Amino acid sequence: MSRAYRDALSCFATGVTVVTAHYEVQDWGMTCNSFSSVSLEPRLVLWSIRQSASSRAAFVSAGGYTVSVLSHEQQALARQFSTGDMAQRFAGVSADRLESGRLRLAGSSAWFDCALIQVIPAGDHDILLGEVRDFGCSVEPPLIFAKSQFMPDRQLAACS
Ligand SMILES: Cc1cc2nc3c(=O)[nH]c(=O)nc-3n(C[C@H](O)[C@H](O)[C@H](O)COP(=O)(O)O)c2cc1C
Repeated sequence: MSRAYRDALSCFATGVTVVTAHYEVQDWGMTCNSFSSVSLEPRLVLWSIRQSASSRAAFVSAGGYTVSVLSHEQQALARQFSTGDMAQRFAGVSADRLESGRLRLAGSSAWFDCALIQVIPAGDHDILLGEVRDFGCSVEPPLIFAKSQFMPDRQLAACS
């Protein structure tokens, strides 16, 4: 992908999430900013995973995923879940296990526990469409990502 195209896309500010799954008695997790709401009724969301990602098979096969929307204080987790093996990613991370069996990161701004209902191949990514089965929200302001940088803007606290 060209530098110019990446630069243009990076002007679209997003939140940052860590998506987790539980597959073959192991926890899987990765940093993701392609998360988006699709439909309110029914409650549908999506995110896309690079087809060459080593954890793709786990996320596609696990039957569901949990999205933790990172708070402005969780920049380190965004980096931790974008590299290394799964033991390194979850090392020292505080998380709760949901009834679905998946992990929700503690201290996040919001979370969505989803059943995977469709996998849509799309170029070099797969779109993972999920139906929200449970969710929650805290007063923690979210972490923002734009221009390839994390923006832990505390002024967002005024929005809560
Ligand atoms: C801020 C940020 C957002 C990211 N968003 C995505 C995403 O939406 N989809 C994706 O496939 N990878 C995304 N990545 C990259 C993955 O986190 C990274 O490639 C992945 O964890 C590599 O692990 P794996 O190949 O072992 O699965 C993002 C990385 C960062 C730092």
